[in-house]
Order: sequence, then C-alpha cells, then structure tokens
Amino acid sequence: MAVTLRAKIAGTGSYVPERVLSNRDLEKMVETTDEWITTRTGIKERRIAHGETSADMAAKAAERALGNAGVSASEIELIVVGTVTPDMTFPSTACFVQSLLGIKAGVPAFDLSAACSGFLYALDVAEKYIISGVVKKALIIGVDRFSNIIDWTDRSTCVLFGDGAGAAVLSATRGKSGVLASNIHSDGRKWNLLYAPNPVRDTPFCKETGTDERESKEEPLPPYLAMSGNETFKVAVRTMVSSIKEALKAAKIRPEEVDLLIPHQANQRIIQATRQRLKLPEESVYMNLDKYGNTSAGSIPIALDEANREGRLKRGDVVLFVAFGGGLTWSSAAVRW
Ligand code: UT7
Repeated sequence: MAVTLRAKIAGTGSYVPERVLSNRDLEKMVETTDEWITTRTGIKERRIAHGETSADMAAKAAERALGNAGVSASEIELIVVGTVTPDMTFPSTACFVQSLLGIKAGVPAFDLSAACSGFLYALDVAEKYIISGVVKKALIIGVDRFSNIIDWTDRSTCVLFGDGAGAAVLSATRGKSGVLASNIHSDGRKWNLLYAPNPVRDTPFCKETGTDERESKEEPLPPYLAMSGNETFKVAVRTMVSSIKEALKAAKIRPEEVDLLIPHQANQRIIQATRQRLKLPEESVYMNLDKYGNTSAGSIPIALDEANREGRLKRGDVVLFVAFGGGLTWSSAAVRW
C-alpha cells in the first residue's frame, strides 16, 4: 500500500530587528503605562525595523531556516510569503527573497495576503503543492513591518504591534512527521474590524464623479491600521477555538495528545481564553509576545523557531498552530514533529 505523502517542517528560522521599543519608551510617546500594556496584553517590548525592509527581514529568516534544515537555496522549488506589508505593490516580497537568496530563476514565488494568518495560509498552500507531488521542497515565510502602517499617536493600536519575520522549509516525506491537518477560513463581511487602507493619491480623475464608486461615495480613510479591539478579541477566541477543533478532528487527535500549541501572539488574554476553552494545560502553550508584541504574519513562525531552538519540540510531538487576523481570516494546523 502506498504511504501517504506529507509536508514535513524540515527547518525553521526567524529574524527580528535589533531596535527595541519598550513599554517605558511608549509612555513617553502616548498616554499609556507599562502597567496597562502588561496587564491588558502581556507585551513588554517590541522590535522596530530601521533601515531594513520586509524583504530583508524575510530573507534573513529564510536563510536561517535553510541552515537549520540543512537544505541549500538551489533545492527550493516554491516560495510563498504571507505579508500585508510588502515593500512594493509589486514585485512580491517572495520575488525579492528569491533574488536575495539566489534561488534559481523559474521557481514560482508569490505573496499572499491574510494578515496575521499569513504564515498558516502559506503553510496550507505550500502543503497542497507538496502532497500533490508537484514540489519537493518549499520555503514558507511570514513577515510584517507594522511600524510602517501604525498611527504612532493612537495608543489603542501603537502599543500592540512589532516588526519581524519567521520562516520554515517544508519538505516532502513519506514518514510519519509532517502536516496532519490544516484549515484556512475567512469572512470578508467583517473586514472593518481590522484593516489598513492604502494611502490615497491624487489622480487627474479624482474630481470626476462615478469613476470609482468607493472614492466618490466616501471620504478616504486614513492610511493607518484601525481596529475594533473588543469585538476583534471576541471573534478571535471564537474562531480560534473552532479552527483548532476542526484541525484536531481532521487529524484524529485528542486535545490531551497535543504537546505544544503555538498560537498567534496578539494578546496573552486571547491565548489564555482559547487555551481554557480547549482545556489544555498552561505549560502546553508557547508564548513570546512579551518580547515582540504582535508581529502579524511573523508571529507564529518566530515563536515556532524559538520553540524549536529551545528544544521544546521532540520527534513525534504533536504541535498545533492557530491564527486569527484581518480579513477576517483564521486558520489552524496540526503537525507531527
Ligand atoms: O492580530 C490580530 C488580532 N488582534 C487582536 O486580536 C487584538 C484584539 N484586541 C485586544 O487585544 C484588546 O481588545 C486590546 C488590547 C486592543 C484592548 O484591550 P481591552 O481590554 O479590550 O481594552 P478596551 O479597548 O476596552 O479599553 C479599555 C480602556 C479604555 O478607556 P475607557 O474608555 O475605559 O476609559 C481605553 O481608552 O483602556 C483605554 N486604553 C488605554 N489605556 C492606556 C486603550 N488603549 C490604552 C493604552 N494605554 N495603550
């Protein structure tokens, strides 16, 4: 009988900028306190990109993932980058990564936009290419540079986010390790809970009515991230719980068999509420948001890389991922390490 083809996580890597922005630093910028940020979110500090772009961060994380996997750039057959803060409208961040790492011409490289769920969306897509036998090795990356789209005078959002990138090498295997189940979801009707509009540019046609339905009807939105925090919080817990249950059911795994849950690092209270609803023990949840805040698509792969390098993942372990973000989007994956 043919053994199932799986996508195995062969290596991980991450990169965060050196510049640290602490809660104390933010106290000097907006009306906030270290105490408020710590108790409401769990965040103590975050990193800010300075003189480096999303593509630079993505390439550094990817280089480390290749090193960790013992795979050379020439073996990569697919590059998928989850990001909502690309350096340019086009080319894609993935194309820049291809160039920066010297990955051979002809290899497909593209970005996908799923905000904080970007890395798990990339995992889901790349896994399909692998299990269908189309590619043997893929590079998946989650990167965001939210410091570029934050209104640094808005205390309700500027304390939450940071910059960073994480990556993984996926490799085709017929062994027991690899992605056991993965799901991705979205609900565009709730787009306005969390969004970041493009900056508006004047064109010779702006004054004409009826050329662009949205522009003629509405005032342009400010080009900053906007979020309805409370509502987003509730939907985040609800969708993350349902997405995890779906992944566990598809993988035929009971909650007590989960060795490590690596959730999107948005808010400690969201993570705890999700964990409690699933009755998972505290020690089975990985958190590093105190150091980096919410790095959007970078969040899960940075946490995965740290867990991996700390030796938290043993061969045969069941690792569960779950994310939630703008779109709205949500996603979960169960992986045997
Ligand atoms: O990654 C994508 C998904 N994103 C998320 O999952 C984020 C989801 N939401 C959250 O994490 C939380 O809703 C927040 C951390 C954003 C806010 O926490 P909260 O407990 O929901 O606070 P709140 O929005 O209800 O605000 C409570 C109070 C308000 O003051 P009043 O109206 O009670 O007087 C805010 O003005 O806290 C005030 N506040 C602040 N105070 C000090 C809001 N931001 C700050 C701040 N410092 N930075």
